[in-house]
Amino acid sequence: MTLGIKGGMRTGFLWIEDWLDRAFGPAWNPLYHLGALGFFYYWIVAASGIYVYILFDTGTTEAYDSIEYMTVEQWYLGGVMRSLHRYASDGMVLMMVVHMLREFALDRYRGNRWFTWFTGVPVFWLVIASGITGYWLVWDKLAQYLALATTEWFDWLPIFGQPIARNFLAPSLLDDRFFTLLTFMHIAVPLILLLVLWIHLQRVSRSRIHPARGLALGTFAMLLALSLFKPAVSQGPADLARIPAEVGLDWFYLAGYPLMDIWSKGALWAFTATLTLIVAVLPWLPPLRRVPAAVVDLKNCNGCTRCTEDCPFNAVSMQPRTDGLPFEWEAAVNASHCVACGICAGACPTSTPFRRASDLVPGIDLPDRSLRQLRDQLEQAAAALSGKARVVVFGCDHGVAPRDLALPGVAALSLPCIGALPPSFIDYVLSRDLADGVFITGCRKGECYQRFGQRWTEDRLARRRDPYLRARVPRERIGTFWAAPTNRRRLVQAVESFAAGLGAPPPAPGGPERPVGAPEASTEEAAAHG
Ligand code: HEM
Ligand code: SF4
Ligand code: SF4
Repeated sequence: MTLGIKGGMRTGFLWIEDWLDRAFGPAWNPLYHLGALGFFYYWIVAASGIYVYILFDTGTTEAYDSIEYMTVEQWYLGGVMRSLHRYASDGMVLMMVVHMLREFALDRYRGNRWFTWFTGVPVFWLVIASGITGYWLVWDKLAQYLALATTEWFDWLPIFGQPIARNFLAPSLLDDRFFTLLTFMHIAVPLILLLVLWIHLQRVSRSRIHPARGLALGTFAMLLALSLFKPAVSQGPADLARIPAEVGLDWFYLAGYPLMDIWSKGALWAFTATLTLIVAVLPWLPPLRRVPAAVVDLKNCNGCTRCTEDCPFNAVSMQPRTDGLPFEWEAAVNASHCVACGICAGACPTSTPFRRASDLVPGIDLPDRSLRQLRDQLEQAAAALSGKARVVVFGCDHGVAPRDLALPGVAALSLPCIGALPPSFIDYVLSRDLADGVFITGCRKGECYQRFGQRWTEDRLARRRDPYLRARVPRERIGTFWAAPTNRRRLVQAVESFAAGLGAPPPAPGGPERPVGAPEASTEEAAAHG
C-alpha cells in the first residue's frame, strides 16, 4: 500500500519534472532546486524582516499602528517589504512541503540517508513556529484569534504555572512586555532554524543552497509582482473586548487551526505528536534499506583524495597513513554515512579493468558490487553480442531498468550509480573490441539520485575532472542520454539511433571536428529534437 502510494507519487513527480524541464531547462527547474529555493526565501524573509523591524513598534496599540503606517502611508517601500516578508515566508512553506514529499517519493530518506530526513522534522516545526509568531505580532483580528487559540492549546499541557490564555481575556491583562517577548521569539526562532538547517546539511557534501541566477531572479520578480498587485494587509485592529467573528487564515501556516474548533485540545496534541513521530521514524519503517558500506584496501590506496572529493555524502575522509607505505594520507570510510553509491570507486585511479597481473582490487570499492564483478559481467555480456553495431550500455539502478533495453546487439549493465563507472571501463570496452560503441545513461539531467553521479561522469568524459577518459578513446563511439524511468521510450530511441550511427561511414575529411576532450555531441539532443 505505502509502496503503491510512493510509486504513484514518484511517477507524478517525474512527469511534472519532465514538463518543467521542457519549460525551463534543468538549471531552472524549480523541483530540482527546492532546498536552494528554501534558502533563497529565507534570505528574502530575513532582509525584508530587518526593514519591517526598523519601522515596527512593540506595544498593544503601537504594533498595529506601525504596521498600518508601513502598509498604507509607505506602501511603496514599507508595504512592499511587508508583502515580500509575507509571501517569501509562504513560499518557504510551499517549497518545504513539496521538498519533503519529493524526497519521500524519490526514496532519498532511508538507510544512511536518515539523518537529513530526521533533521528536516524540527526544521518543519521551526518554520511553522516562525510564521505563527509573525502573524501574532501584527496584533490585528487574526492575531487576536491566533493568540487565544494557540495559548489555550498550549495551556492544555501541564507546563505553565498559570494559564497563558488569561493574558488575552481583557485589554487590561495584556501588557507591552508580552510584545517584546514575542518579538524576541520571532527573531530567535528563525535563527535557531538557520542553525538546524546547517545541521540538516551536514551529511550532504557541496549542498545546493543557492538557486541558479535565472531561477532566483524569476522567483524574486514573481514575489515582487505579487507584493505590488496584491499587497499583504491586516484584518482590522485586535479588540480583546470582543471575540473576532470571522478571520481569514493563511493556509500555508495556519491550515491546522480549524481543527481546534473540531477536536478537543488533547486530541489535537495526540494527532500532532503521532504524525510528527511517524514522519520522524519513516526511515526505519519497513522495507528497511541496509547496504554494505564501501571498503578501503590500503595496499591499493595512494591517498590521492579523489574519493573524498567525489563522495556526495561526506562519507570518506583522509587520515594520516597508518600502514607505513610512503604516502602522506589514506582514505577512511565512515560506514554510518556511506549510502553505497560506489561513486568513490568510480573516482579511484586504481579502478582499472586493464589490470591482469594483479587482481582488480581498487583502493576503495563496494563489497557486494565490486568492480571486479562488473568486469566479469561486462566480459560475459559482451561475449554474447553479435551483429554490425554491438553496444554496451552502462546504466544505473535509478534510471531506466536494463531489462527495458533488451534490444538486438545491446548488452545493458546496471551500477548503483553511473558515477561508480571508472572511465577506464569505456576505454577497456572499445580498445579490447568487446563492443563497437559504449552508451552511458543514468538519472535525468540535473537530478541524480546519488546527487553527483551524472555530473562527475560528464566531467570525467569531458576531461574536466579526474579520472579523465583517455584522449585516445574515440569519442564518436560513445553516446550519452540522461533519462528518468518515465523516459524509457526516448532512451530506447537514443540507443537505437546511436547504434545506427556506429555503422555510418566516418565523417568526410575537412568536416567539422570535435576538440579532444569536449563533451560528446550527445544523442540526447538528437532524440529530443528528432
Ligand atoms: C526550509 C526548509 C528546508 C530547507 C531550506 C532544506 C534544504 C535542503 C537542501 C539545501 C538540501 C540539499 C540538496 C542537495 O544539495 O542535494 C536538502 C536535502 C534534503 N532535505 Fe531538506 N530542507 C528543508 C526542509 C526539509 C524537510 C522538512 C525535510 C523532511 C522532513 C527535508 C528532507 C531532506 C532530505 C531527505 C534531503 C536529501 C538528502 C539526501 O539526498 O540524502 N528537508 N534540504
Ligand atoms: S559508496 Fe563511496 S562515494 Fe558513495 S557514499 Fe559511500 S563512500 Fe561515499
Ligand atoms: S581514490 Fe583510491 S587511491 Fe585515492 S584516496 Fe581514495 S581510495 Fe585512495
